[in-house]
Amino acid sequence: MGDKLPVIWPYEPHTAAKHAILRAYLSAWFPILASIKRAKRVLFLDGFAGPGEYTKGEPGSPAIAIQIALQHRAQFRVPVRLAFIEADKDRHAHLCRVVERLRTGAAATSNQIDIRPPILGDCATHLAATLDAYAKRGGEFGPALVFLDQFGYSDVPMPLIARVLVQPRCEVFTYIHAEGMTRFLKKAEIHGAVSDAFGSDDWKRALTVPQGERAKVLAHEYERALRERAGARYVWRFAMHGADDTLLYWLFFCTNDRLGLEKMKSAMNDVDTSGGYFSFSDARSPDQAIMFSRCTPEWLAEHLTTHFAGREVSVDAIEEHVLVATPLVKCRGVLGGLERAGKITAINPPKGRRKAAFNHPGMLLRFENRGLG
Ligand SMILES: C[S@@+](CC[C@H](N)C(=O)[O-])C[C@H]1O[C@@H](n2cnc3c(N)ncnc32)[C@H](O)[C@@H]1O
Repeated sequence: MGDKLPVIWPYEPHTAAKHAILRAYLSAWFPILASIKRAKRVLFLDGFAGPGEYTKGEPGSPAIAIQIALQHRAQFRVPVRLAFIEADKDRHAHLCRVVERLRTGAAATSNQIDIRPPILGDCATHLAATLDAYAKRGGEFGPALVFLDQFGYSDVPMPLIARVLVQPRCEVFTYIHAEGMTRFLKKAEIHGAVSDAFGSDDWKRALTVPQGERAKVLAHEYERALRERAGARYVWRFAMHGADDTLLYWLFFCTNDRLGLEKMKSAMNDVDTSGGYFSFSDARSPDQAIMFSRCTPEWLAEHLTTHFAGREVSVDAIEEHVLVATPLVKCRGVLGGLERAGKITAINPPKGRRKAAFNHPGMLLRFENRGLG
């Protein structure tokens, strides 16, 4: 999708929010992935890399990834490889200069950080060719995080996301310009591109609902496609809204790894939009019913005791539920409160377990039956 921006452009508050998430996630992700026993290296691939900086020198996503990798205090067991693709010739040239500057000015690190020269070209083409090359020589593409930060919504076909996610330990973090997509949805000229992005025509259900509900249907359909067509076990969405609550963009994170989801949800939940005109307002449960701002520990206690009333459930299943079906990440503190209040009972505790300790995932907890009252 073409754009009318100059080679570098001003930094916007909503870009800062996106970068805050990326920064927090990469900080957590590099050491975890770099400790996987089978991994030979860890890859961060920035497929729509941009020029590397903004007009006042604010770092772009490639610079953020390089800085985090170079300055990380953890010792990585394997090399961290950073690769970038940018289609625009002038932005690519600018990015090459930024990358070189960061490489030579780098603080000493004992980690092996393999910063690849940025590739000039189309992300989908290069990513597909890279996956082909790995398949041909029988190598493992993962562990990898593929960041697909396109300008619009039409440059990332769903089958490409599927090709990444089918690889072991690979994750995709992808951007959709929600405002543009919903605004122009009735225009037949974009329908082919939208179908490519979704991997089918299922999104057309959005054409049958009132304008105000279109974005919700599109987000739901895209998430469904990521699960059902691209094979993502977990999908989590971040939505950025403007001052008047206009939806600006969505970031979708796809992973098959629960720890990855946990780290990304924490990164998204920590984004501070309090000082700006921007807000994110749907770090919600998949059923869209729960607003993040209302998710206090009291809310979670009430939710768990209602949801699991009268049942015996493992700690692991409860934690999975909290992670995939509520905006929250952790629940052990709340479980401790419930146990002390006699609302849950550990029924097969390991020997010597202390009250309110939940570090045995298989331990079963019985939730009291709440009856009709
Ligand atoms: C939203 S900007 C990227 C911003 C950057 N990720 C950051 O956070 O600083 C999207 C970039 O993708 C580039 N681009 C557009 N189409 C592309 C394509 N098909 N393949 C690779 N890059 C593309 C644009 O030139 C632009 O620099």
